[in-house]
Amino acid sequence: MTAAEPDWLDLRRPADDEARQESLHLLDDAVARLRDGTESNSKSLLAIDIGAGTGNSALWFDAALRARLPDWQINWILLDSDQASLGLAAKALPHARTICAPIDALPTLSTELLTTSEFQGSKLLLTCSALLDVLTETDLTAVVRSLADHDGLGLFLLSIVGGWELDPAHPHDAAIDAAFTAHQHRDGRLGHHAPDRLISLARRHGLTALDGPSPWRLAAPDDRTSLSRFLSERLDAAVEEDPALASAARDWWTQRRAQLDSGLRVRVDHLDVLIDATDRGRQTSTVRATTPPTGQK
Ligand SMILES: C[S@@+](CC[C@H](N)C(=O)[O-])C[C@H]1O[C@@H](n2cnc3c(N)ncnc32)[C@H](O)[C@@H]1O
Repeated sequence: MTAAEPDWLDLRRPADDEARQESLHLLDDAVARLRDGTESNSKSLLAIDIGAGTGNSALWFDAALRARLPDWQINWILLDSDQASLGLAAKALPHARTICAPIDALPTLSTELLTTSEFQGSKLLLTCSALLDVLTETDLTAVVRSLADHDGLGLFLLSIVGGWELDPAHPHDAAIDAAFTAHQHRDGRLGHHAPDRLISLARRHGLTALDGPSPWRLAAPDDRTSLSRFLSERLDAAVEEDPALASAARDWWTQRRAQLDSGLRVRVDHLDVLIDATDRGRQTSTVRATTPPTGQK
């Protein structure tokens, strides 16, 4: 596991927040499902932001949930395997609890938490943002198991799905993209296959899974600083993966850097996933529509 650099997490936050505007329909859906599956006297939520980093994603989820669930008690756990990031997250969300642990510990952790007197009877909500691509099959299995074990809901946002479009295009775009994609799959990481893999695993366990796009859209010169950092990080990863690209990468970067002043637009594709384990009982007793609505696979 490699921790993300805190300054990069802060730099990308405005682009993340803007992209998450397109995630709101899934958040609204999750809130409706929480309300549906809850008796009127037990409005308590145990929300665990997995891969919480410095807390930026939890801040977004917290504000969006409190606006929609004003009559609920929302308890936050921020989970990450990087203690330094969690130190910053604890300052950003003083009302949250932090736990330094790997995601594959989630089934044990969620059971331990939900059996304490503090959280007994609470609904489980797992959240994350910009995380799934670095996870392995073992991690995703742990996520699905935790949801299935506790009839929980999961909202997993801004997962890279491969595909970025640069305007204007450059002849080296495809080679750099291919090397970056290979880098994303190093050491058993699922890279841009992770969201689809999560959906398949969830459905195999009989859980409902919905999805929707939430692309990043950046344009220079306005987004010059974040775009410059984003492109240089992708380029470094591509060259690390394929050192033979070094010379092409230098040419590419010279042109791209000039375009940061003259004009460059980038779209990065993401997929959001909502998993609902709260309606398993209802699913088995109800014949469901065979044609999924838009956005449902
Ligand atoms: C790109 S950052 C996203 C941080 C935050 N969600 C945000 O949007 O600002 C991914 C975070 O996931 C954490 N992480 C990655 N793999 C992990 C794992 N297997 N277990 C626990 N944390 C992990 C990293 O330490 C990092 O803080």
